Formats: sequence, C-alpha cells, structure tokens
Amino acid sequence: MRKNVQDIAWANKWNTDISSLDLQHKNLASTVESLKVLERVVPIPDSAYDIFLNIISDVRSHFSYEEKILLNIGYNELDHHIKVHQDILDKLIEIQETILIPKDDAAMPDAIILLEETIAGHLSGEDSKIKKYIHRVNPID
Ligand SMILES: [Fe+2]
Ligand SMILES: [Fe+2]
Repeated sequence: MRKNVQDIAWANKWNTDISSLDLQHKNLASTVESLKVLERVVPIPDSAYDIFLNIISDVRSHFSYEEKILLNIGYNELDHHIKVHQDILDKLIEIQETILIPKDDAAMPDAIILLEETIAGHLSGEDSKIKKYIHRVNPID
C-alpha cells in the first residue's frame, strides 16, 4: 500500500545527540522528501534519477562517516551496524544498476518507496540505538 508522503519528514525521535550525524540524517531525509515530489510527475523527469543517484552517493559517504564516529565512541554493536549498512548499500546498488541507469520509469515509484522505507527504517531502528548507547555509557545525571 502507498505510504503517506510525510512519512520520512524529520522526526526528533531520530536524534542521536551527535550533531554532525543528526545534520546528515536531516539532509538525507529532506532530499528523499524532494525526490518523492518528483515521483508523482509524469513522465518522471531526469532530475529524479539524478537526485536518486546523489542520495546513494550521500548514503555511502554518510555510512562511512558514521562508522568512523561509532568506532571512536567504542560503539558496542559496530560490527552489526557495518553489516546493516552494507546490506542497504547492496540494495541501493542493485536499484542503481537495474532501475536508475536504464531509467525505468515504471519501476521508479516502487524504488522511491523502498528507498524511503529503508532510510526511515534505519534511522528509527539501528541509528536510534546510538543515542541509547551514548546515554548508557555516559549518563547525564
Ligand atoms: Fe547507520
Ligand atoms: Fe546514519
């Protein structure tokens, strides 16, 4: 079923309390939002493909940056988190090769929904554990 267009709008519950990570997460969520608007334009404009490819590039850079941060703070689930990142990248690379490069308009709406669900799911699932870890090892009070 088609999801609500506001689903990936930034949610404060996604804060990790690491400002540089939160900024990257906000930028990713907002770029995915801008892609969703283009998905409803028929035919799908070339700019939608460009934005999608840029998001994949940004996700790759973000994952690499985030993994360095997690290593620095001694994150207890780092190996698992790296594996989850790799699985997401594998999925995005497959979309790139099968849908974005050939410019498959018919497959784009589902690909955009999958992207949105994947990013939002990672933010609310794995990335939200980072904040819990920080507060556990370094309680504020
Ligand atoms: Fe992550
Ligand atoms: Fe992240």
